[in-house]
Amino acid sequence: MPTPSHTRNPFTSVETPAVGVEIQGLSKNFGRLEVLKDVSFSIEPGEIFVMMGPSGSGKSVLLKHIVGLETPTAGRVMVNGLDATTEAAREQVRMAMVFQAGALFNSLTVYDNLALYLREHQVADENGIKEKVMRALQILSLEQTAQKFPSDLSGGMKKRVAIARALVMEPQLLLYDEPTSELDPVMSATISEIIALLRDEYHVTSLVVTHDRDLALNIADRVGILMDSRLVFLGTPAELRHPSNEKVNSFLNPKIDLKNPRYKKLET
Ligand SMILES: Nc1ncnc2c1ncn2[C@@H]1O[C@H](COP(=O)(O)OP(=O)(O)OP(=O)(O)O)[C@@H](O)[C@H]1O
Ligand SMILES: [Mg+2]
Repeated sequence: MPTPSHTRNPFTSVETPAVGVEIQGLSKNFGRLEVLKDVSFSIEPGEIFVMMGPSGSGKSVLLKHIVGLETPTAGRVMVNGLDATTEAAREQVRMAMVFQAGALFNSLTVYDNLALYLREHQVADENGIKEKVMRALQILSLEQTAQKFPSDLSGGMKKRVAIARALVMEPQLLLYDEPTSELDPVMSATISEIIALLRDEYHVTSLVVTHDRDLALNIADRVGILMDSRLVFLGTPAELRHPSNEKVNSFLNPKIDLKNPRYKKLET
């Protein structure tokens, strides 16, 4: 596990302390549906925490609690010691989220997609903005795409643009929702390398929600698995290779059985 360190701003030489996250007894109900039940864990400053779990197990709902878009039914979420539902957390901690589908504006060029946040927040003048945008594109090897529109890009490029857009916000905490879904294995490996680079070079604290076992095994400092609304595994990638919990094992190593009754039903 990395030692608590400082987030180095990739655009200036300014360093700020890396931030941690504490999830304490978090439960979330939507009406009668219990999505999260008494989930507790922490994300250490500067670490990559990977959260896995079956579809519908509450991973995206968990992410939304950290950025303050959902309020806990019980328990609490603390970001750098501040309650995630408060203005103070949003004002004092620079957080960015990389959405699964990228959430890019199709009518704007890649350059303008990245510049949008900086212009809205008047972070710098146009020259300063250009410097920050081009630096983020360079980190993600995307310089050639600056004047292209999202529709001209491959899925993998769009994912990288989404990460670059998060990066210009100079985040201390970066949340990724399925960063490698729909990508070929080589592009998935590239995205994994970029996530690891942001930890190693800039000490960004990262929470990565994914179904990608290779990503978890290769870049995670620690891994959690959500199943049936509960955190059923919390450990290192090495421990994930030989899980003692049978449900976790069959989630990570599913068997394809063509004699399965589900398949038989299709044979009419
Ligand atoms: N705002 C909401 N209102 C009601 N139910 C919701 C809401 N948001 C999520 N849910 C429900 O919570 C459950 C968990 O959803 P969530 O999106 O967190 O799953 P997930 O683990 O991210 O799944 P996937 O891997 O498919 O992305 C689902 O049953 C979903 O329908
Ligand atoms: Mg999801």
